[in-house]
Amino acid sequence: MTTLASIPEGFGLETEVINTTARDRAVERCRQVGIRLPTFAELADPPAADSALAGIDPDAADAANLWRVNWFNDASRAGRAAVPEYVVIPPALSGVESPIIMLLGNRFPMIGAHKVLAAYSCLAPRLVTGQFDPTENRAVWPSTGNYARGGIAISKIMGCRGVAVLPEGMSAERFEWLDRWTSDPSDVIRTPGSESNVKEIYDACAALAEDEANVILNQFCEYGNYLGHVIATAAAIERVFEHYTEGHSSARLAGFVAASGSSGTLGAGDPIKERHGSATAVVEALECPTLLYNGYGEHNIQGIGDKHVPLIHNVANTDVVVAVSDRATDELGVLYSSAEGRALLAQRGVGDDVIAHLDDLGLSSICNLLASAKMAAALDCGSDDVIVTIATDGAALYGSERAKTVATDFGGEFGSAEAAAVAGRWLDGVDTDHLLQLSDRDRDRVFNLGYFTWVEQQGVDLDHFDARRDQAFWVALRDLVPVWDELIADFNARTGV
Ligand SMILES: Cc1ncc(COP(=O)(O)O)c(C=O)c1O
Repeated sequence: MTTLASIPEGFGLETEVINTTARDRAVERCRQVGIRLPTFAELADPPAADSALAGIDPDAADAANLWRVNWFNDASRAGRAAVPEYVVIPPALSGVESPIIMLLGNRFPMIGAHKVLAAYSCLAPRLVTGQFDPTENRAVWPSTGNYARGGIAISKIMGCRGVAVLPEGMSAERFEWLDRWTSDPSDVIRTPGSESNVKEIYDACAALAEDEANVILNQFCEYGNYLGHVIATAAAIERVFEHYTEGHSSARLAGFVAASGSSGTLGAGDPIKERHGSATAVVEALECPTLLYNGYGEHNIQGIGDKHVPLIHNVANTDVVVAVSDRATDELGVLYSSAEGRALLAQRGVGDDVIAHLDDLGLSSICNLLASAKMAAALDCGSDDVIVTIATDGAALYGSERAKTVATDFGGEFGSAEAAAVAGRWLDGVDTDHLLQLSDRDRDRVFNLGYFTWVEQQGVDLDHFDARRDQAFWVALRDLVPVWDELIADFNARTGV
């Protein structure tokens, strides 16, 4: 049986303070800047009323904003919501009978994306166990953009150096944000390529790791990322689904769908499946179908990387792999944002309330929506079968990408004829192409593919790699959470904040 004691060393998994000096310095820093750290339990269930948040701009580098690193922010992002914000995508938009519930990640503070949760979940355990000294260390955040932004935001709050490592081809909006939040240009490292060039990010991190002052918080293999979603995202989904069932008593949670960048978000699928018997689908770009076809390639569904299987992906508990084309997400991004596109959607019966939420959908959110519809079609889901997915970030981060798509795909003009063509291409008739319901053999194939990245390339111990086949490994990981929460409580007691 896998127990906490058999969990591998490293990967942020320590259960006690391993460097008291570093921990004490972190305590002192947090006392100086007024940081009280939320526990994982509080990420899942934050205090309903929090007077410390009053008057604090959700986009400021303010210690109080750590208490907004959760799903319970209202539409203004300043107030607490009793139920996480969500939109139910109706058949008129999805093309399937099943309601598709999307939780809205752009309500998160500072970066307008849920990846600040992953950044916090990776850093907090390291901080309280003395693995990160904010007075000496630089926090290195490898990412395709949003995780790095989340990490930089938290680093800034803590008054420590943070380094964003991301491909040079990511959206201009990500880089503009990083310019505003960093003061030293060397704190933003642009690696070659675009979205799916994750190996180049690892190489940059390996070079940075030669300097002991750099602590690499590698979200692709950091189990804090997985656990943050197991605890906080799963709890948010539960709360939303409970809220939905108040008006739809026969609803059943049939599926959870998440595109995989680091596979952190997918972690929420594990407890959800235990409680609801839902199937979990992982989504990737058709232009880079690594899990589906062992494929590779460039794509523009920013945030969902690929060309590798993240170490924290619980492949053996994944039921479906589905690929979505970046042509669909790019073109629908334009349709959803344009007046002509919205007019067309209204004609097709999409309500104003849903249209108003289209600004909440960034490219990977649209990808998740399309994949959810494919999943519903493949599983023969009906109107009581709810698919839950995540809108990781909003449309605001992709204005520059939409301008490119209008130029390249539509000759610089997007009017009603173009809107009709896009709807005909991507909204009419949901298909189940490029979707695989995984057999045990398929799961093994996908799992085994990870060997080449993690064991051969990144030097992960083979026993550790293989232990992840067993669900007991993933369940045992959850035992870390109460241990970390106690350490966080002890840390807060020491700061006295
Ligand atoms: C916009 C966007 N969508 C999806 C993802 C994938 O989420 P995860 O890394 O939890 O798999 C990311 C990750 O950075 C992202 O930034």
